[in-house]
Amino acid sequence: MTITKDSVKGITGRTQLNDIEAILDIPEVNPEEISHFIKTNSDSIFTWDYSSTKPQLHRLYEKAKAGQWNGNSLPWDTDVDIEKVVAEEEANLGLRVDISLYQDTPIAKWGEKEWLEFGIESRRWVLSQTLHGEQGAMICASKIVETVPWWDAKVYASTQVVDEARHAEVFNRYISEKMGDIYPVNWHARKLLDHIVGDSRWDMTYLGMQVMLEGLALASFGHMYHMSSEPLLKQLLRQVMIDESRHVAFGTLCLKDVYENMTDAEIKDRQDFAYESCIYIHDRIYQYEVFENMGVKPKDIIPILIKDPVNVFIHRLSLAKIVPSCKNLGLLDRNNGWLRKRFEELGIIGFENENAGDEFPEGE
Ligand SMILES: [Fe+2]
Ligand SMILES: [Fe+2]
Repeated sequence: MTITKDSVKGITGRTQLNDIEAILDIPEVNPEEISHFIKTNSDSIFTWDYSSTKPQLHRLYEKAKAGQWNGNSLPWDTDVDIEKVVAEEEANLGLRVDISLYQDTPIAKWGEKEWLEFGIESRRWVLSQTLHGEQGAMICASKIVETVPWWDAKVYASTQVVDEARHAEVFNRYISEKMGDIYPVNWHARKLLDHIVGDSRWDMTYLGMQVMLEGLALASFGHMYHMSSEPLLKQLLRQVMIDESRHVAFGTLCLKDVYENMTDAEIKDRQDFAYESCIYIHDRIYQYEVFENMGVKPKDIIPILIKDPVNVFIHRLSLAKIVPSCKNLGLLDRNNGWLRKRFEELGIIGFENENAGDEFPEGE
């Protein structure tokens, strides 16, 4: 898939979606690394106007207070037989790798045992990346408390800090108690987190975290929720998704008016950012760490994976919630439909009229 020249700018600088060299450009990261520093340069804003100037955000704040829950109350004593769970889910999913594509690779020799191991590792990888993303969301929400100018938004965002802490708590506990070690943060996801957290413009924190990453999380949780038969994970995901729907709504409510009043040049920056986030989201789906763990070098497998229709399908599905959010914000059609054209190239414009959030409204 070729990306038009018009779209090349900014954080990725790519001319091809499947730019193998760029995808494989993964530096050695110190496995002992504990702390990761990102320099930021944003203003911390006090407001002395405590009146409710954004009533919709105030309503969301009330909803968030009433919707708090305790991670300890999930049924942690559930016995999780992860091999059985993954085997069942793979059977339910019905997606089969076309092995003829992989003839000249080490995985051509994989039998059922290896595929099951891959499924388990892949699940552990997805949940680990989710955990890192939840920490990123917690940091971004706390940044929003500091940088957003309106009181209603500050108090709402403070509830989101607690929500994201609880999400990180439950994913951490699920992996540690039911699956084993946590995978390190994926290199492409880390680049995206660095970019979002490092940007000093407050609306970019919203756009990157509340729209792009929250949208990715909602799609991924929705998929896992519907496929999984494991009761603890199902309940965990349901609780998390109710919170995440609120978070996406917050991002859209805050940004809509602001974007309406921006110049075309300012909007183009946001369109670039949204589009480039989709490229990073694309690169991370190959799960190179899982293959490495199973003795397969990324350079031997990624050139094949990018041609596999199953991966194209997964990438498109992962962006299903992002497209309608971009539409709600008016980002699709500004600048002669620049982002609409990019989403057409990515084959995801068909999601524009899907529901962006509210997968599980309270009381369902
Ligand atoms: Fe979250
Ligand atoms: Fe969130």
